[in-house]
Amino acid sequence: MTARLELRHPAGRTTIRVGAGALDEPAPEVAAAIGGKLVFLVTSPAVAGLHAGRLAALEARAREWRRLDVPDGEEAKRLEVAQELWREMLEAGGKRDSSVVAFGGGTVGDLAGFVAAGFLRGIDYVQVPTTLLAQVDASVGGKTAVNLPEAKNSVGFFHHPAGVICDTSLLATLEPAELRSGLFEVVKIGAIQQPALLDAVAESLPRLLEGDAGALAPIVAAAVAAKIEVVEADPSESDRRRLLNFGHTLGHALESVFGYRGLRHGEAVGYGMLFALRLAERRGLDAAAARRVRELIRRIGLPPLGDFAIDELLERTARDKKARETGLAWVYPRALGDGRIDAAIDPAEIRATLAEFAADPWAG
Ligand code: GLY
Repeated sequence: MTARLELRHPAGRTTIRVGAGALDEPAPEVAAAIGGKLVFLVTSPAVAGLHAGRLAALEARAREWRRLDVPDGEEAKRLEVAQELWREMLEAGGKRDSSVVAFGGGTVGDLAGFVAAGFLRGIDYVQVPTTLLAQVDASVGGKTAVNLPEAKNSVGFFHHPAGVICDTSLLATLEPAELRSGLFEVVKIGAIQQPALLDAVAESLPRLLEGDAGALAPIVAAAVAAKIEVVEADPSESDRRRLLNFGHTLGHALESVFGYRGLRHGEAVGYGMLFALRLAERRGLDAAAARRVRELIRRIGLPPLGDFAIDELLERTARDKKARETGLAWVYPRALGDGRIDAAIDPAEIRATLAEFAADPWAG
């Protein structure tokens, strides 16, 4: 059984199919995006090695199917890599009605979306995310980007895929740490948007951590449905979509301080949520609710946080791409399910709270 969801956005709509076996029954919109076309499969050798056979139902619809390999991880999200792909696509005869299929984790999806957005001023693409984090967050919502040495995600477009296929049976090969990392994005959306998700994760956590496709399917579907609500209300992140940055303001800074290797993205968000919960408790979130989120983060499991210099972390926080000319906004739940964006927190409070957090990230 697969769930079918739909995201309406200014350029049209995206069909999102979620569940074990979703790849075997492409939605009509996906079939139309690749049917009879020259299709560029952007993937990494590791993902293709594990799962390329699972794309048979898509490949069968294409007129021609060309695989373009990119590196794993942030290495893929470089302008040089995008340029290399554009050149290969031109050389292979790519046209405005050719398509891209992104097959991999968030970095492959961000790059492939960027390449599709830029090629001949924009061609169709389909996201087939292979990590939990990419299924519940990165593949949905049309954000595409590459990094510059100065800042992550600093060049990109909103370019929505024609379809997203979240086949939860692809998640069985993920390392437990990757599953944990994705679950923190589910906790994020649960805390700011849909508290029932927190209970759902808590109840099925052992099976989720085993990568059980059946247990993961309803969680992914519910997380995507909640994200759709936020993105439809504010597709270009001028306001409400910033709610999705709960845990990310500090999380991005932690990732950057630890050089994108020490902490996975989701883990950094886990710590970022622990920090933001402290701000939330001072602004009305009741202690029991904060404890509930903290306890779930603890059960999912975070690696130890290395030492960091508070000044460096503060400086990186200010550099975060979400920092606007009007100042840095912090996101937290005022009550569970009631996320707030707060641009009025005194930097002195942030510094003092960071000092407490450095001493014990888990305390309330
Ligand atoms: N990952 C946050 C967003 O899509 O806005």
